[in-house]
Amino acid sequence: MAVITCIEDLRRIYKRRAPKMFYDYAESGSWTEQTFRENITDFSEIRLRQKVAVDMSNRNLRSQMIGQDVTMPVALAPVGMTGMQHADGEILAARAAEAFGVPFTLSTMSICSLEDVAAHTTRPFWFQLYVMRDEDFVRRLIERAKAAKVSALVITLDLQILGQRHKDLKNGLSAPPKLTPATLADLALRWRWGMAMLQTKRRSFGNIVGHAKNVGDTSSLSSWTAEQFDPQLDWKKIEKLKEMWGGKVILKGILDAEDAKMAAKVGADAIVVSNHGGRQLDGALSSIRMLPSIMDAVGDQMEVHLDGGIRSGQDVLKALALGAKGTYIGRSFVYGLGAMGQKGVTTALEVIRRELDLSMALCGERDIHNLSRDNLLIPEGFFTRYS
Ligand code: GLV
Repeated sequence: MAVITCIEDLRRIYKRRAPKMFYDYAESGSWTEQTFRENITDFSEIRLRQKVAVDMSNRNLRSQMIGQDVTMPVALAPVGMTGMQHADGEILAARAAEAFGVPFTLSTMSICSLEDVAAHTTRPFWFQLYVMRDEDFVRRLIERAKAAKVSALVITLDLQILGQRHKDLKNGLSAPPKLTPATLADLALRWRWGMAMLQTKRRSFGNIVGHAKNVGDTSSLSSWTAEQFDPQLDWKKIEKLKEMWGGKVILKGILDAEDAKMAAKVGADAIVVSNHGGRQLDGALSSIRMLPSIMDAVGDQMEVHLDGGIRSGQDVLKALALGAKGTYIGRSFVYGLGAMGQKGVTTALEVIRRELDLSMALCGERDIHNLSRDNLLIPEGFFTRYS
């Protein structure tokens, strides 16, 4: 067995084991993929300030996100089609997160349903909601989330229409995959994936199939989005959804200080500074570059979280030092899942925890709550270069 030392190790194994169609789905951004790349490269522009001869014993990574205890402030982000990366993927990832003590967020576009994940976990998880035109379906989805004991609703605001991902169009992405000669040839190489898939019944969008009426092609994420997502979503509707839910609400997909102020106005418990992993507006700035202006605008009014480009504990440290109260990993856990199922998700979390813990110590800090901009070295003009 290979020694796994970093998230990149998991990505390499995942690439060998998962069907190309699903690997490509995860490992892509929209159009030129500039924003997808810069989410990562911008993290590496920020450097860490080394401190020596300070007591680094008894370190603490425990914290809270929206009032819930976390063993480190790193949640699993909602990722569509996770159950196609590995059979029963959402259940496996939720179980890994639960055992580790971090939140798991189930996507509306998951393969395993809300009910399925609830039945295979013991602690509440979070549910990510896409707002659809069919209000009745949204209402029922919210009721189902309540019945599944979901403890926070994460409403995604940056995907009412789908950014174009070239590879998905070329691969004919669908769940389950359509058996063309090209996909059959590819699946023949992924026997591990296929064997596990044959042993589960969960192979289509579990929150949707059998629950939504008048649906055309339920196997295609892009046609479902085009037909069903509500392009008229506005702040009034968000307020109504918040009322309908009645619990904790996280608004995901905020990349602008003015939008962040609107999120504060509607009373969100937290926002996620995010550009959807570079999968929507190509040319938008990276999440980490946008974080300080958003912190300045609303940091004293609600929790600010961040996703996009986190591939290491050092990245988590940088986001926290800039004021984020929590972070999310999407691809980083999907690599682990596709590489080795639940164990791989646990490994991804362990890798990140180790990196965060040791780097924090080498920065001369013992408590995650003490991280601040003082721990960072930032190139001049990094946050003000674009206006
Ligand atoms: C869906 O959330 C996607 O980005 O594909």
